[in-house]
Amino acid sequence: MQTLKGLILSGGKGTRLRPITYTSAKQLVPVANKPVLFYGIEAMARAGIDEVGIIIAPETGEEIRAAVGDGSRFGVSITYIVQDEPLGLAHAVLTAELFLGDAPFVMYLGDNLLQGGIEDLVAAFRSSRPDALILLTPVPDPEQYGVAELHDGAVVRLVEKPAEPKTNLALVGVYMFTNCVHGAARAIEPSGRGELEITDAIQYLVDQGMRVEPHIVQGWWKDTGRLGDMLAANRLVLDTIEARVAGELVDSQVDGRVVIEPGARLVRSTVRGPAIIGAGARLTDCYVGPYTAIGEGCEIRNAEVEHSILLAGSSVHDLAGRMESSLLGRNVTIGRDERQPRAFRFLVGDNSEIGIL
Ligand code: TTP
Repeated sequence: MQTLKGLILSGGKGTRLRPITYTSAKQLVPVANKPVLFYGIEAMARAGIDEVGIIIAPETGEEIRAAVGDGSRFGVSITYIVQDEPLGLAHAVLTAELFLGDAPFVMYLGDNLLQGGIEDLVAAFRSSRPDALILLTPVPDPEQYGVAELHDGAVVRLVEKPAEPKTNLALVGVYMFTNCVHGAARAIEPSGRGELEITDAIQYLVDQGMRVEPHIVQGWWKDTGRLGDMLAANRLVLDTIEARVAGELVDSQVDGRVVIEPGARLVRSTVRGPAIIGAGARLTDCYVGPYTAIGEGCEIRNAEVEHSILLAGSSVHDLAGRMESSLLGRNVTIGRDERQPRAFRFLVGDNSEIGIL
């Protein structure tokens, strides 16, 4: 078989994760202090795929290039492909046609996380040689997803968010294709939301008599497109970390699986794992609870934080209540202010959400 290539989709608008996505790519939001996108690149490398194309948007592409580089530190070679407008997943495939050539490829949505990686999937594709292979997972709420109907071990129908789902098998954001997908992506029309849908391209392959095989995911899968999913992914990944204390603890305590990166300093504080405290962070008189990832250089003073993600350089101080289930962007400050008149004072961008006690 021809060498497999990888295609990671890291463009898109990320509207569901505003305001974070006004200033940054959602694929670079860290899960357990590592950008979501890196997990996908590592999964490609582990599956032996060393030519990886990354679809980027004009607005966030530079930031992605700066974070990922040429791929050498992941052991892969990266080609960046600019998609001028996010016109759909099948449109992204067409945009990457020059890079892909005739090669079969794995397509991976850059904001998705797959616990088991993609090695199983690649092995199944190599052994049974279908025209396309789609990843599926049983979900409790199939009406929220693209759903597959199977017959005799083959995919016969894909329905986007069906009102009355016939199965509970949702499409996961990882697919494998042979070069016949290019013709399918060219043959379909934009959907009601104006996008070339990958489900329509796959349905086209089925209708043309091509063999589309299902592969059921082992382990968990998460799409991190919304805040709740991002926190859930953070929880799932933190559940797998191994304790390591490289920073400095002064009259402080860590319980359970906690990573304290080098240069972090804890004073009179308690961290209860699973949690990760980034390099150079400063924690003073505080409590950090389970499922929290504190980014590099954050500062927390006289406060309690739990089940949250703080991006680099943020600070939280003197809170009266515990902060939880929160996602703070870079260099955000949240704190008690003793100035008169006593009042809440905010400087908050568009689409921010604040909940107060
Ligand atoms: P989505 O999460 O479906 O789309 P989005 O990023 O525009 O987000 P939202 O719905 O919140 O506005 O996209 C899945 C992945 O595919 C994500 O990593 C972005 C990427 N993508 C592209 O690269 N090009 C595209 O045209 C689209 C639609 C998505």
